[in-house]
Amino acid sequence: VLSVFFRVSSGENTTFPSWFMFGAATAAYQIEGAWSTADKSESIWDRLLHTQPSLVMDHSNADDACFSYDFWTRDVEIAHEMGLQMYRFSISWPRLLPTGFPNQISSIGKSYYGNLIDGLLRKGIQPVVTMYHWDLPQSLQELGGWTNPLIATWFADYARVLYTLFGDRVKYWITINEPLTICDGGYSKMAAPYLDDMKISNYLCSRHVLLAHAKAFRAYEKFRKQYRGKISMANVFFWFEPLNPEKDKEATKLAMQLWEGRFGHPIYSKTGGWPPELEKYIAGISKTEGYNQSRLPPFTPEEIQLIKGTYDFYGLNHYTTRLVRKATRKTAGDWPFYGSKELGVTFVNHPNRRTIVIDWFQIYPEGLRKQLHWIKDNYEVKDIMITENGLPMLRLDLADYDRVDYIKKNLEQVLLAINEGVHVMGYTVWSLIDSFEWITGYKLKYGLYHVNFESEYRLRTARESGKYYRRVIKSRSWDE
Ligand code: BG6
Repeated sequence: VLSVFFRVSSGENTTFPSWFMFGAATAAYQIEGAWSTADKSESIWDRLLHTQPSLVMDHSNADDACFSYDFWTRDVEIAHEMGLQMYRFSISWPRLLPTGFPNQISSIGKSYYGNLIDGLLRKGIQPVVTMYHWDLPQSLQELGGWTNPLIATWFADYARVLYTLFGDRVKYWITINEPLTICDGGYSKMAAPYLDDMKISNYLCSRHVLLAHAKAFRAYEKFRKQYRGKISMANVFFWFEPLNPEKDKEATKLAMQLWEGRFGHPIYSKTGGWPPELEKYIAGISKTEGYNQSRLPPFTPEEIQLIKGTYDFYGLNHYTTRLVRKATRKTAGDWPFYGSKELGVTFVNHPNRRTIVIDWFQIYPEGLRKQLHWIKDNYEVKDIMITENGLPMLRLDLADYDRVDYIKKNLEQVLLAINEGVHVMGYTVWSLIDSFEWITGYKLKYGLYHVNFESEYRLRTARESGKYYRRVIKSRSWDE
């Protein structure tokens, strides 16, 4: 109460500008179920969890998940109940193109996504459509997946199908969700295809993901005049701070380059291409390891130009902040594992920040604001959309007050950033409903709405956070 009084009397503005959009997100594999319905083909996640179920904490998979394939109207109803202005979901590539190629467009897949898009628009909710949220057609994996350079063209062909089918109605597209997780997760046995090569494959994948994104963005040019949509990618970006402001400063910068700059610099910077410090660093260690060429494969000058500037806004997935401590490449470790060995850094918790549910998830809302400023200061970007932000909880019930607090404090920081001159277009909560989480299965919950996985209808019920978010959207204030 006192803090509310202080805020009111201190005159802090708690109201979002009228153009700011509130949303929530999901992804196809995590909610749809119906993994083999009609002509849908197998994705790499279907294959992985059918063959190695023990990889997931509770040995589950998303064969059925939330049955959103059947109950999508309820999802639209929930989005409407909360007053969302946008709903971010993803299209399953193998559901729409069972061979992975446009030679076979599934009429059932097409009507499923068409109905969902129309259903949202009827309620006045903007669909924000992710083209790729990790469920690659298994057939394409068999051809090398993201390590095959041809995937850039395959992806652009898929994107063209999407623009042709849905471009008249979809105004916000996200080409690829979290290239970091696709490449470093996929090749460090953390995510499908669950391979083990953090020397060459993860960087080949990074290169091809960027080219795929760029080609998909360029393929939209033909449609842009007519449809006037906006396109970007969604980067996952933990905010990193040095444990010791002096000693760990350089290590922190390099960690940022490996995590964010690897994907951000080629697209959003003035010069394009890999971040120079990272390029130099990887070339250096590659040499000491006996490689004749850098493990980070170079772009041609044409490719640099092709990728540079392929965005209409910056898509940011933010969850938490980690501290970076310089270590050696032998002693490095700790979550997030990606790249810590490569760089010789260790990520540690802040002693005075609350750690919640997972041992590396710390609450530090200011991190989001600092990160928004960092994007503005380091890139040419004008608009930023927060494409994911959420809190995992173990709670199965509806009283998720920690999540209410997390969203509230993050929104407060977003508004402060806006008032300080960062143009944030909107904010998206991960997630609309509880869903299958990649490695934790149904143990961790992110939903604004609880899903009863025991019920055959997968009943969805508003949590306290869902109710809070509804009040926020109505009043357009994080302080409701
Ligand atoms: C994001 C992903 O990284 O984090 C989502 O885009 C995911 O798909 C979310 O569900 C939560 O991650 P996790 O690892 O807890 O399942």
